[in-house]
Amino acid sequence: NVDAILQNIGSEEYFPISYEELEQGAKQKMSAGAFGYVRSGAGGEETLRKNEDSFKKLSIVPRVLSDVAGLDTSINLFGRIYPHPLLLAPVGMLKMADEQADLAVAKAAAEHQIPVVLSTVASYSMEEVAAAAKGPKWFQLYWSNNEEVSFSMVKRAEEAGYEAIVLTVDTVMMGWRQEDMRNRFSPLKLGYGKANYETDPVFLNSLGSQDSDSIIQGILDNIHHPGLNWKHVAELKKRTSLPLLLKGILHPEDAKLAVANGIDGLIVSNHGGRQLDGVISAIDALPHVVESVNGSVPVLIDSGIRRGSDVVKALALGAAAVLIGRPFVYGLAVGGQNGVEKVLENFIQETKVSISLSGVSSIKDLPSLKIVRA
Ligand code: FNR
Repeated sequence: NVDAILQNIGSEEYFPISYEELEQGAKQKMSAGAFGYVRSGAGGEETLRKNEDSFKKLSIVPRVLSDVAGLDTSINLFGRIYPHPLLLAPVGMLKMADEQADLAVAKAAAEHQIPVVLSTVASYSMEEVAAAAKGPKWFQLYWSNNEEVSFSMVKRAEEAGYEAIVLTVDTVMMGWRQEDMRNRFSPLKLGYGKANYETDPVFLNSLGSQDSDSIIQGILDNIHHPGLNWKHVAELKKRTSLPLLLKGILHPEDAKLAVANGIDGLIVSNHGGRQLDGVISAIDALPHVVESVNGSVPVLIDSGIRRGSDVVKALALGAAAVLIGRPFVYGLAVGGQNGVEKVLENFIQETKVSISLSGVSSIKDLPSLKIVRA
């Protein structure tokens, strides 16, 4: 009974389990503008739908009687072992879902040693998040028009103990977001994404005045950078000793260029269908990217991962790990830190069950699992 389930959302008795229930629960908790911002995709939402549909079109052909009693789901990324093949994707402006935002998310992830990728436009600064949660953390960078701001943020991330830098390359300008236009909703203008900027000395120095309006205008001026190119990537690589990943790679030739430019890892992603509508789904792009880099760097993936069997499909097609986006945001909206923890626990357990029932007992053997289009 859907009504009974919805009434119990967020209570001790029942917490939504499926993605569909989570989305419904979040819709009840959030303002229409905020929910629309999280849920929607760009343009006609073709790619948003395609991300999920593409997973459904792939089928696992499992093995049996292969003794999966000693399941090992750990992975090794850049020399560190993580217990699960999962990360939390960078999601900005999380205060629109919950007041504790990034702090709640990072604490929930730390319980499971799942890395969080903190957004440039986070609601709490990278130092505040580092102080609140001791788990593994990476920092996502939106390139700034004023590149000294970018370098300053990367340096702060290094000093605060972040272990990798993720440069998002599919967002040189905002996608065509019709839902937000309809709702006249701009979380940046509401100030939800200013924490890393208002604590950055280089950014603040670049402003004429440092009142709240000037800070927000400064962010809007900085965040669009259509001139971004491989020279910036090469310069950034020189400026940091941390592993540098590019997020938003879909074309195998870009993957090769990334490797040629010394990039340490790739995230195959279409930004959850929020940037260019009509692009290939991430899971359909993945095998081509994996083939083109030929094992030289780890290839991660996000966009459309909703359950454990999706994780299995991605890893079987060569992903080193997967990032989850909207599911944890909905968990946060429904139940704060506890809600994120529930979502992660379910992901972890369903992933374990799905790997085991595929007849595989270790992540490193997943690439031998047969996946067909059927
Ligand atoms: C995002 N995403 C994102 N990516 C990024 O690099 N920096 C950011 O600040 C944000 N912010 C953001 C906000 C919201 C509300 C969403 C839903 C997404 C994209 C995110 O990292 C990831 O690529 C997608 O969310 C993955 O797709 P799924 O799992 O949501 O389908």
